[in-house]
Amino acid sequence: MLHLAEQIDAAAAIVRSQWAERPVAGIILGSGLGGLAREIDAAAKIDYAELPHFPRSTAVGHAGRLVCGTLAGRPVVAFQGRFHLYEGWTAEQASLPVRLAKALGAGGLIVSNAAGGLNPLYRVGDVMLIDDQINLMFANPLIGVNDDDLGPRFPDMCAPYDRQLQEVAMAAALEHRFVLHRGVYVGMLGPTYETRAEYRMCRRLGGDAVGMSTVPEVVAAVHAGMRVAGVSTITNAGTADALDETDHSAVTQIAGAAAERLGVITRAILQAL
Ligand code: HPA
Repeated sequence: MLHLAEQIDAAAAIVRSQWAERPVAGIILGSGLGGLAREIDAAAKIDYAELPHFPRSTAVGHAGRLVCGTLAGRPVVAFQGRFHLYEGWTAEQASLPVRLAKALGAGGLIVSNAAGGLNPLYRVGDVMLIDDQINLMFANPLIGVNDDDLGPRFPDMCAPYDRQLQEVAMAAALEHRFVLHRGVYVGMLGPTYETRAEYRMCRRLGGDAVGMSTVPEVVAAVHAGMRVAGVSTITNAGTADALDETDHSAVTQIAGAAAERLGVITRAILQAL
């Protein structure tokens, strides 16, 4: 098994052989949000299968492809499909897209996901800017020997989501007249959705939304010194006393309906990076 930095370099070399630009940001497109990739003026599309050491995305609604090109006039690498811990990937594997984006020169990371709403004021279909996160996955991509070339042994996590980019996103929502909540994302391992007791626990611990991704990616991005912005689409109510059954096809469909608002936020952030 190659050293992590060598795995990343090998994947970056393949991307560079097809696309010479330096991206300002990596964009990770979560469940149902892959459609945003269509707005990218694509110069290269690379299947994950072409990238050495890259896992294959198996989750429904995730294409498993890298789209390199221009969005809002800015060069970006967008990942259509992410790697979840519930698929059996390690937290380190889940963060490979982030590290690849960084190796290509990206200083920013924009992550999106579908999440259950814990805050009783949130409605299905709303979008939430992620202000902070709670790691309840009992996993961390930085476990093991630290590669000091990738980042520090003990990264500070007091503001994992960039404050200035948050202001940019809030201003864009105001300008386009849609509600953008701001809250705390709780990362759970999955693949089961939460029990009522677990939703209640996540709320009491300080969460506003809960999902099964993003946390490892953001840890790796902070480690790499990237400026992070994250948005959750609230696809179901995780308010324990008004709980509906959750199913994945409804989650994906509702996430898709938020794509336009996500596009507004993404473009505004790209302009600021
Ligand atoms: N819990 C965890 N992950 C999710 C949920 C949820 O309620 N909704 C969408 N992804």
